[in-house]
Amino acid sequence: MDVTESIERIGVVGGGLMGSGIAEVSARAGLDVVVVESGDDAAKSAHARLEKSLRRAADRGKLDDPDAVLGRIRVTTDLSDVADRQLVVEAILEEEAAKTALFRQLDEIVTAPDAILASNTSSIPIMKLAVVTSRPEQVLGVHFFNPVPVLSLVELVPSLMTSADSLERARAFVEGPLGKKAIDCQDRAGFVVNALLIPFILSAIRMMESGFATAEDIDEGLVRGAAHPQGPLALADLIGLDTTKAVAESLYEEFKEPLYAPPPLLARMVDAGLLGRKTGRGFYTYT
Ligand code: NAI
Repeated sequence: MDVTESIERIGVVGGGLMGSGIAEVSARAGLDVVVVESGDDAAKSAHARLEKSLRRAADRGKLDDPDAVLGRIRVTTDLSDVADRQLVVEAILEEEAAKTALFRQLDEIVTAPDAILASNTSSIPIMKLAVVTSRPEQVLGVHFFNPVPVLSLVELVPSLMTSADSLERARAFVEGPLGKKAIDCQDRAGFVVNALLIPFILSAIRMMESGFATAEDIDEGLVRGAAHPQGPLALADLIGLDTTKAVAESLYEEFKEPLYAPPPLLARMVDAGLLGRKTGRGFYTYT
């Protein structure tokens, strides 16, 4: 397959928040999608999540025929159902051992010799996934943003071994049928967006922790003074403070720079289960 040959058969492994979003945008683009989940209950949840999202899009007048889109998506629990895919996007839990085990299996199962094996990982080096396969030149990171149907950015992350051909085919997929914008990043923790966003959020937390300013004033300052759509602490609540801390830890682990170290207040809030919007309380309280 060369760059001009379009990708039409997609596999998505993991049908959670991100995987179902990737499946949705692919099917809405007219592509044939297989979603693989880990068990029957998870597969049912993935299907229900997809259906809900598509019906909501139809109710808002953004989609004409949700049933036609659903008809292009098959949710299964059998990984061998991705054998004929031209591109497989892994979106399972963020655990290196689980992801390397899956990439080993995908390498065995996916038959097209030039199929791309991609990961949506936020923090695991692509190289660790590439080296367990026999085709490291076809492994790369394709990092979508949450919610996938809404946010138009994808970070493309080639490892040192990814071929230019695989990178360009992935770009053609992202910018062609999906209609998103791709930016290129090195295989380093945080890629571009989180490497800038997370230390910004951590600085805001430190500012609040030191008593320099209140959460409300910090957020007001950035919204009204820098035209941000929301302040950094409200954004941390949206991302989830556990996720914010986990990404900060992976950045700190990679670069050993103090600016990436999670401040004690963030750690205590995570210990307390104050994780932001998803638990009803973080820097703000949600009803
Ligand atoms: P999630 O927990 O919502 O979904 C993970 C899904 O994978 C679950 O439905 C689980 O049942 C399934 N799964 C686990 N092991 C599996 C296996 N061996 N085979 C098939 N399915 C399996 O997680 P989420 O948030 O969708 O994250 C997925 C990946 O995307 C992670 O690598 C994460 O770092 C990355 N990511 C997450 C973002 C976010 O905002 N949540 C943003 C960008 C990337």
